[in-house]
Amino acid sequence: MRPPRDLRLAVLLLFSAAVLLLAVPAARAQQETEEEEEFSYSLDAENGPAHWGDIKEEWSACGKGNMQSPIDLASPRVSLVRGLGYLNHSYAPANATIVNRGHDIMLKFEGDAGSVSIGGTPYFLRQLHWHSPTEHSVNGRRYDMELHMFHQSAQGKAAVIGVFYEIGAHDAFLHKLEPYLEMIADRKDREEKMGMMDPRGARGKASVYYRYVGSLTTPPCSEGVIWTIVKRVRTVSRHQLELLREAVHDDMEKNARPRQEVNSRDISMFRPSQQNRH
Ligand SMILES: *[C@@H]1O[C@H](CO)[C@@H](O)[C@H](O)[C@H]1NC(C)=O
Ligand SMILES: *[C@@H]1O[C@H](CO)[C@@H](O)[C@H](O)[C@H]1NC(C)=O
Repeated sequence: MRPPRDLRLAVLLLFSAAVLLLAVPAARAQQETEEEEEFSYSLDAENGPAHWGDIKEEWSACGKGNMQSPIDLASPRVSLVRGLGYLNHSYAPANATIVNRGHDIMLKFEGDAGSVSIGGTPYFLRQLHWHSPTEHSVNGRRYDMELHMFHQSAQGKAAVIGVFYEIGAHDAFLHKLEPYLEMIADRKDREEKMGMMDPRGARGKASVYYRYVGSLTTPPCSEGVIWTIVKRVRTVSRHQLELLREAVHDDMEKNARPRQEVNSRDISMFRPSQQNRH
């Protein structure tokens, strides 16, 4: 006797539901491992920096772009441009969350943390993150750590301020992050609310800076990013640097992209004139 049509339909539905239930967690697990390994900083890895551009169509700039970052800031290429002017900002304390992104640690501002003005356009501060060792170098010299302060204009154009650190006295701004770094250590996508954080503590007061146009230093390596690299080198304690490094989920010893070709780009430098040097 053939089962009634309704029953066959019910069995079919149950079967489909079972397949879905089994398939979804498997797909999710697959996606997670893929995300972890999407790109790597390891030079000899299949998904290492030399291959980022081949991993996804949207990442092709990483391989084909000719205005990529980071670069070496070599003196012969640097010209003094007084007209660049002091970096004027309106940073203010805002609520922030610390996030373990797997390849780095990011401090994301939820509220309005203020902006920096470049060519009359305000670029709003969105997040800070750290690379070690530094990605940019000065006359071939790399330091121990580079802070990136990522900003975006109302039109979505990106501007990043980079600050170098070398091992020495502890950094007061990072000191506030220490207990949170321990909480999110080695757990990708783990985040913790930090309350109000004042970005002025991260930036410091130095006024001499380099300026050039480059790209994001992680995939998709989008170009047209306005780079400002502060010349003065700050200090971070070895303990703080190790905390930041160990917190990164992938257990990577370093998270710095190799330097890219400068090609025909200009590198400018702003330095206040002697009379009103700050
Ligand atoms: C910063 O402000 C000073 C004084 O208002 C101005 O002269 C300078 O051009 C500003 N800098 C930039 C980069 O806009
Ligand atoms: C910051 O976050 C706290 C807790 O979520 C909230 O009560 C407070 O209003 C926020 N402050 C600002 C300035 O957004």
